[in-house]
Amino acid sequence: MKTERLYLSADKEDSIKKAAQLLRAGGVVAIPTETVYGLAADASNKKAIEAVFTAKGRPQDNPLIVHISDLAMLEKVAKNIPQTAYLCAEKFWPGPLTMVLESAEFVDKSVSAGLDTVAVRMPADETARLIISETGLPLAAPSANISGSPSPVTAEHVIKDLDGKIDAVIMGERCSVGVESTVISITENEARILRPGAVTAEMLREVFDNVIIDKAILSNPKDDEKVASPGMKYKHYAPEGELYLIEGDSKKFCEFVNNKDDGAAVCFEEDVNKLRVKTFVYGAQQDADSMAYAVFEILRTLNKEKIKKAYVHAPHKNGVGLAVYNRLIRACAFRVIKL
Ligand code: TXA
Ligand code: MG
Repeated sequence: MKTERLYLSADKEDSIKKAAQLLRAGGVVAIPTETVYGLAADASNKKAIEAVFTAKGRPQDNPLIVHISDLAMLEKVAKNIPQTAYLCAEKFWPGPLTMVLESAEFVDKSVSAGLDTVAVRMPADETARLIISETGLPLAAPSANISGSPSPVTAEHVIKDLDGKIDAVIMGERCSVGVESTVISITENEARILRPGAVTAEMLREVFDNVIIDKAILSNPKDDEKVASPGMKYKHYAPEGELYLIEGDSKKFCEFVNNKDDGAAVCFEEDVNKLRVKTFVYGAQQDADSMAYAVFEILRTLNKEKIKKAYVHAPHKNGVGLAVYNRLIRACAFRVIKL
């Protein structure tokens, strides 16, 4: 199939209309969001959802996130919604927070991979919301990459992975956050973080008495282990080369990598001057937003430059740093070295 490029710079309104038309007809369209690009399809259309799983090569038991543009849509896709969900919506939507709620009939069973829950989010990206409202339907959208590869933060990343496999791609801007949304399951007084993102535990404490960070975030679930978020058990974000996550201060990290002298360094701005190997910089050590912005792009650059081995300077785990750490420990296949 030919993947149509829909440009926003040329004629935004036309491109949004065209995307909505394709989506209503059961098509699959990659759209920008503030986190990463999503591969969108009508959440009530079984065939369209199947096409999303096929294009990505996604395991059938890994459920998708449903994207909405207003609260009326929330009540279409979920039921028995706790009050705390409305409080979160008020505080964090539109934005990078996904809530797991009880699923309503509207959502096709394949979206939730057989679970009776549905994950819902209202993206902050204006184009994304315009496409949803123009379509008039809640849209299921996983990240628009081949399953297992680094998530896409530009339209070019989407094209690299999915050209010829999907109906169209919106040629939007680079994603501003850079890591996927925070996924939480909730009750009236408790939130459990299933996947960390830019809405942090600290921010969630403004709404919930209790915020739990699920243990699967920093550990490697065993093959037969039941995890709260199925996505956690799959090989993720993996570059083609071998990556090691190195914990330690700048001095120790640079000494270690220079002594090894058998791989590149994925490091912070502060490290560059002390390193004698090839470097790939992913932001500044104290600025977690800058790391989130850069992390997936760097993982893709390693592939492009055919890097066989690299040592990644581990980020701190505070704020959105936890999200970056969570993605990197998976990209490193849990190979962690503490100095
Ligand atoms: O920022 C994002 O969330 C991006 C953009 C496109 O919105 N989407 C995204 O989708 O990251 P995806 O499919 O790559 O990740 C969805 C995650 C998976 O880890 C999945 O297991 C979890 O959400 N998830 C989805 N539905 C769930 C459910 N009903 N219960 C628990 N976890 C769920
Ligand atoms: Mg994904």
